[in-house]
Amino acid sequence: MARKPMMAANWKMNKTVREAREYTAALLPRVADAEGVDVAVFTPFTSLSEVARMVEDSSVIVGAQNFYFEDSGAFTGEVSASMLQDIGAKAVIVGHSERREVFGEDDEMVARKAARAVEAGLLPVVCIGETKEERDSGGMWDKVSGQVRRVMQEMDDGVDGEKVVFAYEPIWAIGTGDTASPEDAQDAIGKIRGLLAEVRDQDFADAVRILYGGSMKPDNVADIMAQEDVDGGLVGGASLEVESFEKLISAAAEDDS
Ligand code: PGA
Repeated sequence: MARKPMMAANWKMNKTVREAREYTAALLPRVADAEGVDVAVFTPFTSLSEVARMVEDSSVIVGAQNFYFEDSGAFTGEVSASMLQDIGAKAVIVGHSERREVFGEDDEMVARKAARAVEAGLLPVVCIGETKEERDSGGMWDKVSGQVRRVMQEMDDGVDGEKVVFAYEPIWAIGTGDTASPEDAQDAIGKIRGLLAEVRDQDFADAVRILYGGSMKPDNVADIMAQEDVDGGLVGGASLEVESFEKLISAAAEDDS
């Protein structure tokens, strides 16, 4: 089954509204003809409405980097799915390792956020991945499979695979320049797809997109994209400049694996 690749920019805590506007203005003409790939930009909350307004007539998907699963109420500092949709967000990153590690989000919270995003009609990009210690001690699959199982436990049975995106992001590869080898990325992502077939069904596993994240760059993107189960990238550092993000988008569009 052919899955449409996705190339997603995770700006993290970067860019003022003005910088976001300049970036988006430069990106739009470059992706106008990008066919066969979904381009997504995950902005800080502060620039989301501006970017959403600018991309309205394009195919660019704009999203937030986090939200809370309740819809309203006494949750100081939080933003709900409906608030994000109100300003034009179509997608949201859920459970990024920086949220898990710096802000203490656990598997249950991540799972509830993923399920709520789907229910609200936002496309969640659910992040999973192991630390260096876990990989070195042979605990990588325990960690990653546990994260995936917990997310699927919370997800309604009727949810289609197209409504969910996973991002396998080994924590030791994020922002370090230390990318997983294409074979390691394929190995992990292939196993995640197999697990999804087991805990849900083959249709779900065939339709769900699984991205790789962790120091993806113009010089390694083609080899990673060439892996059969890798459906795209979630990119931090190399997405901050339009020039390099455009190279990643082109590589994803050209990939036919
Ligand atoms: P990186 O970040 O590309 O800078 O490694 C990826 C991510 O954290 O999503």
